[in-house]
Amino acid sequence: MGEHGHGHEHGHGHGHGHGHEHGHDADALPELLDLDAEVLHAYREALIDQIYELAGGAPRRILDLGCGNGTGTLALAGRFTEAELIAVDVSPDMLHRLRDKATKAGVADRIRTVQADLDEGWPGVDGLDLVWASASLHHVADPDRVLAAVFDSIRPGGLLAVAEMASFPRFLPDGLGGGVEARLHAALDARHAVEMPHRGEDWGPRLSNAGFAVEAARHFRIDLTDPLPAAAGRYAQATLVRMRSVLHDEIGAGDHAILHTLLDGDGPESLLRRDDLAVHAERSAWLCRRP
Ligand SMILES: C[S@@+](CC[C@H](N)C(=O)[O-])C[C@H]1O[C@@H](n2cnc3c(N)ncnc32)[C@H](O)[C@@H]1O
Repeated sequence: MGEHGHGHEHGHGHGHGHGHEHGHDADALPELLDLDAEVLHAYREALIDQIYELAGGAPRRILDLGCGNGTGTLALAGRFTEAELIAVDVSPDMLHRLRDKATKAGVADRIRTVQADLDEGWPGVDGLDLVWASASLHHVADPDRVLAAVFDSIRPGGLLAVAEMASFPRFLPDGLGGGVEARLHAALDARHAVEMPHRGEDWGPRLSNAGFAVEAARHFRIDLTDPLPAAAGRYAQATLVRMRSVLHDEIGAGDHAILHTLLDGDGPESLLRRDDLAVHAERSAWLCRRP
């Protein structure tokens, strides 16, 4: 499985438990990942700082597992300026976007993209100093199998960093739209309990079972209020647009109308214009070492 892989096109609208997504909203994921990285950058930087401390210096050979459009890859390349990075994802579109970003940032010569479906096997890479897996492990069908392969690919003493969303972020004041955001969360949680059972779980025991020594388990509770980062409104909008896309057929007419006002309108109630938003997010992370 190399750079040009088996070429099987993998959209985000099917497979890996995403269910059907609706219309153009399904294109919103890369933008959402960028906004997430921008608004919640402090937690990611704290993790990368801790990697540096645990590694006793800058890792040189890094793999980003389920890299998406490269928010983590680019952050790691920016911080560890001597490192070579291997960015692995099943989606050719995501990898294309990542290469564009890497070129613009002037780091393309240090980043190799590998298109691979981790459910079908591990790409032939080993001797890694660091594997970074952000919001990706809960997508794979058999995480224990993937973790066994990750373990083998890391050199003894090397590190694995797993970051996962503990829950989808929330933005709206309580009761807005009759509690529409809470209803979307409840519906998404019910969906994910069936389709992505590993989302939100405690990865510590799994990591230990795979042979890793878990050296830090962290929970980040992020509550941003006024003054919010400039991108917060767009982040709120992109998140709710994605939730609407995933849940489209389950949402009743009343909530569709409320969401239309919040997300599609240009009036004072639109998320891009309101001044009563906050950002509440929770992330969990595990930093572990191959003994
Ligand atoms: C939520 S995104 C996270 C992207 C990035 N790590 C970040 O934090 O911004 C999950 C990524 O995992 C990828 N993915 C899902 N299943 C995969 C599989 N079986 N093999 C490889 N990549 C996969 C998706 O294509 C997507 O880009």
